[in-house]
Amino acid sequence: MSQYWSPIVQSLTPYVPGEQPKHQRLVKLNTNENPYPPSPKAIAAMQAACADSLRLYPDPNSDQLRQVISQYYGLSSDQVFVGNGSDEVLAHIFCGLLKHDKPLLFPDISYSFYPVYCGLYEVEYVQVPLAEDFSVRLADYQQDNGAIILPNPNAPTGIALGLTEIEVLLQQHPHSVVVIDEAYVDFGAQSAVTLIDRYPNLLVVQTLSKSRSLAGLRVGLAMGQAHLMEALERVKNSFNSYPLDRVAQAGAQAAFEDQEYFVECCNKVIATRESLIKALQQCGFEVLPSAANFVFARHPQRDAATLAAGLREQGVIVRHFKQKRIDQFLRISIGTDAECQALLTALQPLLK
Ligand SMILES: Cc1ncc(COP(=O)(O)O)c(C=O)c1O
Repeated sequence: MSQYWSPIVQSLTPYVPGEQPKHQRLVKLNTNENPYPPSPKAIAAMQAACADSLRLYPDPNSDQLRQVISQYYGLSSDQVFVGNGSDEVLAHIFCGLLKHDKPLLFPDISYSFYPVYCGLYEVEYVQVPLAEDFSVRLADYQQDNGAIILPNPNAPTGIALGLTEIEVLLQQHPHSVVVIDEAYVDFGAQSAVTLIDRYPNLLVVQTLSKSRSLAGLRVGLAMGQAHLMEALERVKNSFNSYPLDRVAQAGAQAAFEDQEYFVECCNKVIATRESLIKALQQCGFEVLPSAANFVFARHPQRDAATLAAGLREQGVIVRHFKQKRIDQFLRISIGTDAECQALLTALQPLLK
């Protein structure tokens, strides 16, 4: 603690990102990145954007990119907001739409950045326990709230809610903004984007970090009716008017335009996930049903932290959370078939 810090800084508990190793050649299955490269068309667009024009500021509103995304989803441009990774978009959402007199609700096991933003923006919150099987029970959200945020599929469990259930939630809470964080939606869940025109309280958040292999570019988006986007614009223009640089705008746009490559990569990840789940089950793991690009698994006879450490010694990194209820689970990102095979091989001596 420093005498120079603002009081709010003294009270923060910052988010701890998964390890990004600097030197070693590791099989990296710890931060849910895509094992396949970005679309070659996105790479070409970014290379073309590295030009004289970089001396000029980028379009502050990313108009062209928002246009492409809105066409992709059948929305209008004023229903799309973009930011520097969905983490930044979420930060603006917490600041601009989730702070009310009544508490924000989210699951007890969920994206661990949510409580961090609550700390930063002083948002009061209640964590609603997931059911015994780690599913979201909508009935438990029938309590006083100012807003609700849920990842769908949930992280780190991978379990998805159906669109009908999301719609029930929207109908049950017409006076609250309901944020559906769809970071992993393209790997097997249904997007709530199709509900936007009917629900003024719905806000959908997505990212290009997972299904579009652009975690390094930092582009995220929010979609909802124009009055919600306006709140986010107001926060953004009070924070950083140029969140997306020229390279990011060009790359993100080309990634959205290359539908064929996107579908091919998602399908490969899904196929590998299904074979990894079977292989883990054969090794005795219990694996939660996953609609994401990771699986959440526990072994009834092996301590998860010990397994994670044993894997690391063999050059395979997975994510282990020390949090109550899930401290016996490993979250394993879906790699290539070869990377998942390396994981299974490294598990063998640890399970003997
Ligand atoms: C549920 C969820 N939401 C949002 C994010 C943030 O993604 P990004 O900031 O890379 O867009 C993540 C990243 O892991 C996540 O798991």
